[in-house]
Amino acid sequence: MGNLLGNKNILVMGVRNKWSIAWGIVKAVQEEGANVIITYQSEREKEGAEQLGADSIFQCDISSDEEINSLFAAIKEKYGVLHGLVHSIAHAKTEDLQNDFIYTSREGFAHAMNISAYSLVAVSRGAKELMTEGGSIITLTYMGSEKVFKGYNVMGVAKAALEASVRYLAADLGEANIRVNAISAGPVKTLSAKGVKNFGDILDAVPKKAPLKRNITQEDLGKTALYLLSDLSSGVTGEVIHVDSGYNIMGI
Ligand SMILES: NC(=O)c1ccc[n+]([C@@H]2O[C@H](COP(=O)([O-])OP(=O)(O)OC[C@H]3O[C@@H](n4cnc5c(N)ncnc54)[C@H](O)[C@@H]3O)[C@@H](O)[C@H]2O)c1
Repeated sequence: MGNLLGNKNILVMGVRNKWSIAWGIVKAVQEEGANVIITYQSEREKEGAEQLGADSIFQCDISSDEEINSLFAAIKEKYGVLHGLVHSIAHAKTEDLQNDFIYTSREGFAHAMNISAYSLVAVSRGAKELMTEGGSIITLTYMGSEKVFKGYNVMGVAKAALEASVRYLAADLGEANIRVNAISAGPVKTLSAKGVKNFGDILDAVPKKAPLKRNITQEDLGKTALYLLSDLSSGVTGEVIHVDSGYNIMGI
Protein backbone atom coordinates (compact mmCIF):
# COMPACT_ATOMS: atom_id res chain seq x y z
CA MET A 1 0.00 0.00 0.00
CA GLY A 2 1.31 3.46 -0.96
CA ASN A 3 0.53 6.88 0.37
CA LEU A 4 -0.05 9.02 -2.74
CA LEU A 5 -3.46 10.09 -1.43
CA GLY A 6 -2.85 9.78 2.33
CA ASN A 7 -5.39 11.83 4.34
CA LYS A 8 -7.15 12.96 1.16
CA ASN A 9 -10.94 12.81 1.00
CA ILE A 10 -12.01 11.50 -2.39
CA LEU A 11 -15.63 11.29 -3.56
CA VAL A 12 -16.35 8.62 -6.20
CA MET A 13 -19.77 8.76 -7.90
CA GLY A 14 -21.00 5.92 -10.14
CA VAL A 15 -20.36 2.56 -8.49
CA ARG A 16 -23.00 0.11 -9.75
CA ASN A 17 -21.25 -3.26 -9.36
CA LYS A 18 -17.81 -4.88 -9.49
CA TRP A 19 -17.62 -4.35 -13.27
CA SER A 20 -18.06 -0.56 -12.97
CA ILE A 21 -15.11 1.62 -13.94
CA ALA A 22 -15.70 3.47 -10.66
CA TRP A 23 -15.11 0.18 -8.79
CA GLY A 24 -11.57 -0.06 -10.16
CA ILE A 25 -10.96 3.58 -9.32
CA VAL A 26 -12.13 3.11 -5.73
CA LYS A 27 -9.76 0.15 -5.34
CA ALA A 28 -6.82 2.14 -6.73
CA VAL A 29 -7.35 5.19 -4.51
CA GLN A 30 -8.01 3.06 -1.41
CA GLU A 31 -4.64 1.36 -1.93
CA GLU A 32 -2.99 4.78 -1.85
CA GLY A 33 -4.43 5.74 1.51
CA ALA A 34 -7.43 7.91 0.56
CA ASN A 35 -10.59 8.25 2.64
CA VAL A 36 -13.11 7.19 0.02
CA ILE A 37 -16.68 8.45 -0.07
CA ILE A 38 -18.93 6.55 -2.49
CA THR A 39 -22.31 7.42 -3.92
CA TYR A 40 -24.79 5.11 -5.56
CA GLN A 41 -27.90 5.99 -7.55
CA SER A 42 -30.67 4.05 -5.80
CA GLU A 43 -31.35 1.10 -3.46
CA ARG A 44 -30.64 -1.29 -6.36
CA GLU A 45 -26.95 -0.30 -6.41
CA LYS A 46 -26.50 -0.05 -2.62
CA GLU A 47 -25.30 -3.63 -2.07
CA GLY A 48 -22.51 -3.30 -4.65
CA ALA A 49 -21.29 -0.04 -3.14
CA GLU A 50 -21.27 -1.52 0.37
CA GLN A 51 -18.84 -4.27 -0.65
CA LEU A 52 -16.02 -1.80 -1.22
CA GLY A 53 -15.55 -0.93 2.44
CA ALA A 54 -15.53 2.79 1.80
CA ASP A 55 -15.25 5.35 4.57
CA SER A 56 -18.77 6.64 3.81
CA ILE A 57 -21.57 5.72 1.45
CA PHE A 58 -24.38 8.04 0.37
CA GLN A 59 -27.24 7.72 -2.06
CA CYS A 60 -27.37 10.43 -4.74
CA ASP A 61 -29.44 10.51 -7.89
CA ILE A 62 -27.58 13.02 -9.99
CA SER A 63 -30.74 14.22 -11.74
CA SER A 64 -31.88 15.80 -8.46
CA ASP A 65 -30.43 19.13 -7.27
CA GLU A 66 -31.92 18.40 -3.86
CA GLU A 67 -30.00 15.11 -3.53
CA ILE A 68 -26.79 16.76 -4.77
CA ASN A 69 -27.16 19.55 -2.19
CA SER A 70 -27.82 17.06 0.64
CA LEU A 71 -24.79 15.02 -0.42
CA PHE A 72 -22.37 17.94 -0.23
CA ALA A 73 -23.94 19.15 3.03
CA ALA A 74 -23.35 15.69 4.53
CA ILE A 75 -19.75 15.58 3.27
CA LYS A 76 -19.12 19.07 4.65
CA GLU A 77 -20.43 18.07 8.04
CA LYS A 78 -18.37 14.87 8.26
CA TYR A 79 -15.13 15.86 6.48
CA GLY A 80 -15.08 19.66 6.10
CA VAL A 81 -12.73 19.43 3.11
CA LEU A 82 -12.83 17.51 -0.16
CA HIS A 83 -9.71 16.87 -2.25
CA GLY A 84 -10.95 14.79 -5.17
CA LEU A 85 -14.11 14.04 -7.12
CA VAL A 86 -14.59 11.22 -9.63
CA HIS A 87 -17.69 11.52 -11.85
CA SER A 88 -18.25 8.13 -13.51
CA ILE A 89 -21.87 8.47 -14.54
CA ALA A 90 -23.74 8.41 -17.84
CA HIS A 91 -27.13 7.32 -19.12
CA ALA A 92 -29.13 7.33 -22.33
CA LYS A 93 -32.47 5.74 -23.15
CA THR A 94 -32.11 2.21 -24.56
CA GLU A 95 -33.93 3.04 -27.80
CA ASP A 96 -31.51 5.90 -28.47
CA LEU A 97 -28.58 3.44 -28.37
CA GLN A 98 -30.33 0.90 -30.58
CA ASN A 99 -31.91 2.98 -33.38
CA ASP A 100 -30.15 5.29 -35.83
CA PHE A 101 -29.07 8.60 -34.28
CA ILE A 102 -31.48 10.54 -36.50
CA TYR A 103 -34.44 9.09 -34.57
CA THR A 104 -33.27 10.43 -31.18
CA SER A 105 -36.27 12.02 -29.46
CA ARG A 106 -36.16 15.51 -27.92
CA GLU A 107 -36.69 13.90 -24.53
CA GLY A 108 -33.99 11.27 -25.09
CA PHE A 109 -31.50 13.92 -26.19
CA ALA A 110 -32.23 16.08 -23.12
CA HIS A 111 -32.03 13.05 -20.80
CA ALA A 112 -28.60 11.95 -22.08
CA MET A 113 -27.28 15.51 -21.81
CA ASN A 114 -28.69 15.99 -18.32
CA ILE A 115 -27.36 12.78 -16.76
CA SER A 116 -24.13 12.44 -18.74
CA ALA A 117 -22.91 16.03 -19.18
CA TYR A 118 -24.79 18.61 -17.07
CA SER A 119 -24.39 16.48 -13.96
CA LEU A 120 -20.63 17.15 -14.00
CA VAL A 121 -21.31 20.89 -13.84
CA ALA A 122 -23.75 20.45 -10.95
CA VAL A 123 -21.43 18.30 -8.83
CA SER A 124 -18.38 20.45 -9.60
CA ARG A 125 -20.27 23.39 -8.10
CA GLY A 126 -20.89 21.39 -4.94
CA ALA A 127 -17.27 20.20 -4.81
CA LYS A 128 -15.84 23.70 -5.33
CA GLU A 129 -17.22 24.87 -1.98
CA LEU A 130 -15.45 22.01 -0.17
CA MET A 131 -12.16 22.02 -2.12
CA THR A 132 -10.70 24.77 0.01
CA GLU A 133 -7.20 23.24 -0.18
CA GLY A 134 -7.33 22.86 -3.98
CA GLY A 135 -8.50 19.68 -5.64
CA SER A 136 -8.88 17.45 -8.65
CA ILE A 137 -12.08 16.58 -10.50
CA ILE A 138 -12.17 13.81 -13.08
CA THR A 139 -14.84 12.40 -15.37
CA LEU A 140 -15.04 9.48 -17.80
CA THR A 141 -15.57 9.99 -21.51
CA TYR A 142 -15.32 8.03 -24.76
CA MET A 143 -13.88 8.61 -28.23
CA GLY A 144 -17.43 8.55 -29.62
CA SER A 145 -17.33 12.30 -28.82
CA GLU A 146 -14.87 12.87 -31.68
CA LYS A 147 -15.64 10.09 -34.15
CA VAL A 148 -18.75 8.22 -35.20
CA PHE A 149 -19.24 4.81 -33.62
CA LYS A 150 -22.53 3.51 -34.96
CA GLY A 151 -24.82 2.83 -31.99
CA TYR A 152 -23.06 5.23 -29.60
CA ASN A 153 -25.31 7.95 -31.01
CA VAL A 154 -26.64 10.53 -28.55
CA MET A 155 -24.06 9.41 -26.00
CA GLY A 156 -21.34 10.63 -28.38
CA VAL A 157 -23.03 14.03 -28.49
CA ALA A 158 -23.31 14.06 -24.69
CA LYS A 159 -19.61 13.13 -24.35
CA ALA A 160 -18.67 16.03 -26.65
CA ALA A 161 -20.62 18.34 -24.31
CA LEU A 162 -18.96 16.69 -21.30
CA GLU A 163 -15.46 17.26 -22.71
CA ALA A 164 -16.25 20.91 -23.50
CA SER A 165 -17.61 21.25 -19.95
CA VAL A 166 -14.28 19.91 -18.62
CA ARG A 167 -12.47 22.79 -20.37
CA TYR A 168 -14.89 25.49 -19.17
CA LEU A 169 -14.88 24.14 -15.63
CA ALA A 170 -11.07 23.99 -15.66
CA ALA A 171 -11.03 27.68 -16.66
CA ASP A 172 -13.46 28.63 -13.87
CA LEU A 173 -11.76 26.61 -11.14
CA GLY A 174 -8.05 27.03 -11.92
CA GLU A 175 -7.69 30.08 -9.68
CA ALA A 176 -8.83 27.98 -6.71
CA ASN A 177 -6.17 25.39 -7.68
CA ILE A 178 -8.88 22.92 -8.63
CA ARG A 179 -8.02 20.89 -11.73
CA VAL A 180 -10.59 19.28 -14.04
CA ASN A 181 -9.74 16.49 -16.49
CA ALA A 182 -11.37 13.63 -18.37
CA ILE A 183 -10.21 10.08 -18.99
CA SER A 184 -11.27 8.83 -22.41
CA ALA A 185 -11.50 5.11 -21.76
CA GLY A 186 -11.33 2.32 -24.30
CA PRO A 187 -14.19 -0.20 -24.18
CA VAL A 188 -14.71 -2.04 -20.87
CA LYS A 189 -17.45 -4.67 -20.35
CA THR A 190 -19.83 -2.96 -17.93
CA LEU A 191 -23.60 -2.84 -17.62
CA SER A 192 -23.74 0.58 -19.32
CA ALA A 193 -21.55 -0.59 -22.20
CA LYS A 194 -23.85 -3.55 -22.86
CA GLY A 195 -26.58 -1.07 -23.77
CA VAL A 196 -24.63 0.12 -26.83
CA LYS A 197 -25.74 -1.85 -29.90
CA ASN A 198 -22.34 -2.54 -31.48
CA PHE A 199 -20.29 -2.64 -28.28
CA GLY A 200 -19.02 -6.20 -28.94
CA ASP A 201 -17.58 -5.10 -32.31
CA ILE A 202 -15.72 -2.22 -30.66
CA LEU A 203 -14.32 -4.56 -28.00
CA ASP A 204 -13.13 -6.98 -30.70
CA ALA A 205 -11.54 -4.26 -32.84
CA VAL A 206 -9.18 -2.85 -30.20
CA PRO A 207 -6.76 -5.81 -29.76
CA LYS A 208 -6.48 -6.10 -33.55
CA LYS A 209 -5.76 -2.45 -34.26
CA ALA A 210 -4.42 -0.73 -31.13
CA PRO A 211 -0.65 -0.36 -30.61
CA LEU A 212 -0.78 -2.27 -27.29
CA LYS A 213 -2.78 -5.11 -28.93
CA ARG A 214 -5.14 -5.53 -26.00
CA ASN A 215 -8.20 -4.02 -24.39
CA ILE A 216 -7.71 -1.88 -21.32
CA THR A 217 -8.66 -2.97 -17.79
CA GLN A 218 -10.23 -1.45 -14.71
CA GLU A 219 -6.69 -1.40 -13.26
CA ASP A 220 -5.38 0.72 -16.17
CA LEU A 221 -8.14 3.24 -15.51
CA GLY A 222 -7.59 3.12 -11.74
CA LYS A 223 -3.93 4.04 -12.20
CA THR A 224 -4.71 6.98 -14.49
CA ALA A 225 -7.33 8.20 -12.03
CA LEU A 226 -4.70 7.98 -9.30
CA TYR A 227 -2.32 10.08 -11.39
CA LEU A 228 -4.97 12.72 -12.08
CA LEU A 229 -6.17 12.83 -8.46
CA SER A 230 -2.67 13.09 -6.99
CA ASP A 231 0.02 15.77 -7.14
CA LEU A 232 1.80 13.70 -9.82
CA SER A 233 -0.37 15.61 -12.33
CA SER A 234 -0.17 19.01 -10.57
CA GLY A 235 0.20 20.98 -13.83
CA VAL A 236 -2.49 19.16 -15.79
CA THR A 237 -5.97 20.63 -16.23
CA GLY A 238 -8.64 20.90 -18.93
CA GLU A 239 -7.32 17.77 -20.65
CA VAL A 240 -8.86 14.63 -22.12
CA ILE A 241 -6.41 11.78 -21.54
CA HIS A 242 -6.89 8.71 -23.76
CA VAL A 243 -6.49 5.38 -21.96
CA ASP A 244 -7.38 3.08 -24.83
CA SER A 245 -4.23 1.08 -25.69
CA GLY A 246 -3.41 3.82 -28.20
CA TYR A 247 -6.47 3.04 -30.36
CA ASN A 248 -7.20 6.75 -30.88
CA ILE A 249 -3.92 7.41 -32.70
CA MET A 250 -4.57 4.86 -35.46
CA GLY A 251 -5.87 5.73 -38.93
CA ILE A 252 -8.50 3.71 -40.76
N1 LIG B 1 -17.56 0.88 -20.26
C1 LIG B 1 -17.00 1.51 -21.25
O1 LIG B 1 -16.65 0.93 -22.28
C2 LIG B 1 -16.77 3.00 -21.15
C3 LIG B 1 -15.86 3.60 -22.03
C4 LIG B 1 -15.63 4.98 -21.94
C5 LIG B 1 -16.31 5.72 -20.98
N2 LIG B 1 -17.19 5.10 -20.14
C6 LIG B 1 -17.89 5.93 -19.14
O2 LIG B 1 -17.56 5.50 -17.84
C7 LIG B 1 -18.58 5.94 -16.94
C8 LIG B 1 -18.98 4.79 -16.04
O3 LIG B 1 -19.66 3.79 -16.80
P1 LIG B 1 -19.37 2.23 -16.63
O4 LIG B 1 -19.00 1.73 -17.97
O5 LIG B 1 -18.53 1.98 -15.46
O6 LIG B 1 -20.84 1.64 -16.41
P2 LIG B 1 -21.69 1.41 -15.07
O7 LIG B 1 -23.06 1.06 -15.55
O8 LIG B 1 -21.04 0.46 -14.17
O9 LIG B 1 -21.68 2.86 -14.39
C9 LIG B 1 -22.56 3.89 -14.76
C10 LIG B 1 -23.03 4.52 -13.49
O10 LIG B 1 -23.88 5.64 -13.77
C11 LIG B 1 -24.83 5.65 -12.72
N3 LIG B 1 -25.98 6.51 -13.03
C12 LIG B 1 -26.76 6.52 -14.13
N4 LIG B 1 -27.77 7.41 -13.98
C13 LIG B 1 -27.59 8.00 -12.76
C14 LIG B 1 -28.29 8.97 -12.01
N5 LIG B 1 -29.41 9.55 -12.48
N6 LIG B 1 -27.81 9.33 -10.79
C15 LIG B 1 -26.69 8.74 -10.28
N7 LIG B 1 -25.99 7.79 -10.94
C16 LIG B 1 -26.45 7.42 -12.16
C17 LIG B 1 -25.22 4.18 -12.56
O11 LIG B 1 -25.90 3.94 -11.36
C18 LIG B 1 -23.85 3.54 -12.61
O12 LIG B 1 -23.29 3.48 -11.33
C19 LIG B 1 -19.69 6.49 -17.82
O13 LIG B 1 -19.56 7.89 -17.92
C20 LIG B 1 -19.38 5.85 -19.17
O14 LIG B 1 -19.94 6.58 -20.25
C21 LIG B 1 -17.43 3.76 -20.20
